[in-house]
Amino acid sequence: MNALEQSMIRDISLAEQGGLKIEWVAAHMPLLGRLKEQFEREQPFAGKKVAICLHLEAKTAYLALVVQAGGAQVAVAASNPLSTQDDVVAALVRRGVTAYAWHGATDDEYHMHLNKLLDFHPDILIDDGGDLVSTLHRERPEQTAEIIGGCEETTTGILRLKAMAADGELKFPMLAVNDAYSKYLFDNRYGTGQSVWDGIMRTTNLVVAGKTVVTVGYGWCGKGVAMRAKGLGARVIVCEVNPIKAVEAVMDGFEVMTIHEAAKSADFVVTVTGNRDCVTKDAFAVMKDKAVLANAGHFDVEISKGDLTSMATEVRTVRKNIEEFALADGRKLYLLAEGRLVNLAAGDGHPAEVMDMTFALQALGLRNLLQNKYEAGVHSIPKEVDEYVAQLRLQTWGYDIDALTPEQERYLSSWQGE
Ligand code: ADE
Repeated sequence: MNALEQSMIRDISLAEQGGLKIEWVAAHMPLLGRLKEQFEREQPFAGKKVAICLHLEAKTAYLALVVQAGGAQVAVAASNPLSTQDDVVAALVRRGVTAYAWHGATDDEYHMHLNKLLDFHPDILIDDGGDLVSTLHRERPEQTAEIIGGCEETTTGILRLKAMAADGELKFPMLAVNDAYSKYLFDNRYGTGQSVWDGIMRTTNLVVAGKTVVTVGYGWCGKGVAMRAKGLGARVIVCEVNPIKAVEAVMDGFEVMTIHEAAKSADFVVTVTGNRDCVTKDAFAVMKDKAVLANAGHFDVEISKGDLTSMATEVRTVRKNIEEFALADGRKLYLLAEGRLVNLAAGDGHPAEVMDMTFALQALGLRNLLQNKYEAGVHSIPKEVDEYVAQLRLQTWGYDIDALTPEQERYLSSWQGE
């Protein structure tokens, strides 16, 4: 069977339009371009099956094609049912990648797609958020022995993997791509910072300057969201449960308060915590009329949709990706993209140049898994790989940096202080 016969997708006739999207990002992803050329020559994945469970938009498609160029048979499924772009998926299938995904898949369909991807019997995998690895361990434990290893994209996924490892349940090695410096310092901060505001602005067509933005969570993603809100001219409030991060937010120049207090003046609330129930009825009860609620964490559990629905007298879609919740006292609250990742469900995800670094780490991580023998568990991306990606980034931008002299190296590694 060819890729099209095997795949479950919305509409193959969208392939041409999706192909143009892939072409556009590929032109702005020189690191992956270099790896593609190298992989074409060296065929590091020859004879291997690679399963990719990521947000299925153009940058991800290019990663899949780079891995395919390295000799792999590649199959993909979505890591979120609302981020899938059907035209991009069709273009991938046209290029020989098997796909199980369509935009707006129901929970059952999403689950079926993950199982279809596992029916492909991958040797190595990439996951985003942990659903693929979790499904494999929970529903098909006998298949875990087939897996050489995998790479995980996000903070949320790595937390889940570490919980599995702590319970002695993680049966193969997983490389924590998110924890590489070349990933989180750029993707989580500048990628999320830009793509979240892109998603909110293109969805609402509202001004940010002069408004009050409440950022819930001040990890690397939250820092990006707050920093860019400030740059757009907003007054920014940070809500954070970790006292150290809260001090950091204060010293970065933001107001810090509880969500209950912050809700009263919020025009925009953006959750970026990785946790559930961060904005609930307690905050909705005092929230400013016409506040816009958006989530940028992996799962749609950060803003309580249950509480919003139970408090609403009427719910209606007022614009694409905007649901209006009318409350009994006349206030209206607006939820974007059903509380799913606003940058992907109502946008195109992070900018191409940022995902170039992240996906270079993913591609090199996969190769690393085949070149080294790792124990079952969660492992860091090797420092050399992390620094290689940053070096490549500098090179492709045309920046030169200095190197340590041997004397400086010796000085740094000695304790006598010469
Ligand atoms: N595009 C593909 N995967 C993504 C991710 N995890 N975050 C943002 N944009 C993406």
